[in-house]
Amino acid sequence: MKQLTSKELRDFYLKFFESHNHAIIPSSSIVPENDPTVLFTTAGMHPLVPYLLGESHPAGNRLCDVQKCIRTSDIDEVGDNSHLTFFEMLGNWSLGDYFKKEAISMSYEFLTSPDYLNIPADKLYFTCFAGDETAPKDEESYNIWRSLGVPEDHLFYLPKENNFWILGSGIGPCGPDTEMFYDTGKPACGADCSPACDCGKYLEIWNDVFMEYYRAEDGTLTKLKQQNVDTGMGLERTITVLNSYESVYDSDVFQNLKEKIEELSGKNYEENKESFRIIMDHVRTSTFILGDDHGITPSNIGAGYVLRRLIRRAIRHLRKLGLMEDALVKLSQVVIDDYQSVYHELSKNKEFIFAELEKEGIKFGKTIKDGEKLFYKVIKHLDGDTISGEDAFKLFDTFGFPLEMTEELAKENGLKVDTLGFEEKFKEHQEKSRTIDAGSFKGGLADSSYESTKYHTLAHLMLAALQHMYGPDIIQKGCNITSERIRFDFNLNHKMSDEEKAELTKIVNEKIKEGIPVTMEEMPYEEAKKQGAHGTFEDRYGSIVKVYSIGDFSKEICGGPHVSNTSELGTFKITKEESSSAGVRRIKGVLENIQND
Ligand code: ALA
Repeated sequence: MKQLTSKELRDFYLKFFESHNHAIIPSSSIVPENDPTVLFTTAGMHPLVPYLLGESHPAGNRLCDVQKCIRTSDIDEVGDNSHLTFFEMLGNWSLGDYFKKEAISMSYEFLTSPDYLNIPADKLYFTCFAGDETAPKDEESYNIWRSLGVPEDHLFYLPKENNFWILGSGIGPCGPDTEMFYDTGKPACGADCSPACDCGKYLEIWNDVFMEYYRAEDGTLTKLKQQNVDTGMGLERTITVLNSYESVYDSDVFQNLKEKIEELSGKNYEENKESFRIIMDHVRTSTFILGDDHGITPSNIGAGYVLRRLIRRAIRHLRKLGLMEDALVKLSQVVIDDYQSVYHELSKNKEFIFAELEKEGIKFGKTIKDGEKLFYKVIKHLDGDTISGEDAFKLFDTFGFPLEMTEELAKENGLKVDTLGFEEKFKEHQEKSRTIDAGSFKGGLADSSYESTKYHTLAHLMLAALQHMYGPDIIQKGCNITSERIRFDFNLNHKMSDEEKAELTKIVNEKIKEGIPVTMEEMPYEEAKKQGAHGTFEDRYGSIVKVYSIGDFSKEICGGPHVSNTSELGTFKITKEESSSAGVRRIKGVLENIQND
């Protein structure tokens, strides 16, 4: 078995699939651009949803990449051996091209070939979907594994909970999967020990999903027009397994960070594992969120809230090691140095990352002071010696004052905290955020409905109109679309006046009325730039790109889809114009489906 570093695994994976005629595409943004159903990109397939639904991809129908992902539902588990909030997912895709036979054969070859991972075949176990009333048992995958020489006692049929994959929202392309496990050699935990149990004997390293269904909101499955393959291999986890490490935090991606924390604090990792791990994970994730071109900043809602929690929890653990907030920037620098050759956006956004970390550090310092004030107010009126879960949660929720701090202060004052009561309140809150995470909205890419498509075209008109008004330096800083509205961010240093808003509305509505055809052409990226096409997040584009033109008014590199004529849009109206972050304005707008003649 090869004991690879993360760089080697990335390179091996892409090289292998390139040799099997896959185009390598760059990682998409960590924040889904047109999908309001989630806060972050949670899997490699996420940015590819339109293509899994049938849109043609400019790079072809066999793709592979390494995608930046964030999953935050287990944020409080970080500190143990295996949980991470940020991870990289290696993936290969067939968009209506190959299906089960080729996908499984390629996976097996990559895992066992002496040129690639070289894992002994007897260490590998596989699971297939057992079938239920909505989709049949996946005997085809089972038989393919058998034909490759996998013995029956290395194969398991498992139910939907284990072997059927869909995005967290539960809506979108989905299908049965077959998962690949490595046997650590630990004894079986009992007669029923299987890859389904989490005793640690079997560790999952790869998942091949056969996406041939679409799940609607009401749970019904319909066949997609094409059979796709979506696979995912967690980079850090696979490195851990291949090297027989005890924890993901032993992998090379954390080495420099670990050493830096040891150097700054004078404490060692082995004796302070939990704090080290939380700091390493949270600083890495925060650096990637801030470095993502979207200008997300710490706040009390959505992605900004997750970012705030990550930074504050990191600070809390830095303090435990005797370090102060200023260590954040030094550690973030290590993350940037480690990753900038793969993710160029990090060094590009370095100043922004550092400035935000510093600002949040100062704010949190103030929070700690305010929280302490409230704490003393609470204990002044305390009946008995226990601070209620409600008060502890209020300190946490309103002031971002962590429970451990409340506990520490309580201890210093000879008091206790009702931590169970706190947990209860906390769980209620978590349920709420999960609903947001899992998606309480419809629309966006996951739904590529006609209504959403109109808003995609509107975004192009808005950008071109803004450039017409303020000059060519205006760029799109973010865009969020549902079937009911658009939220469009762009760089501008002042609040738009009423006249400016009226001007924007006028230009866009004129272009709609002109009934201009929307056309698409595929061309090399360089050619697109030569023709003056705008592209917002340039690092992500593959070499052949789609360029959408609206007459000679707008030309943008974009994956689509779009309407075919601007007259389909109706009437544009601005509902709000506000600041999004420093130097970035946000316009919220709607399309009303009445033609004003
Ligand atoms: N989309 C699949 C996963 O995330 C491959 O596991």
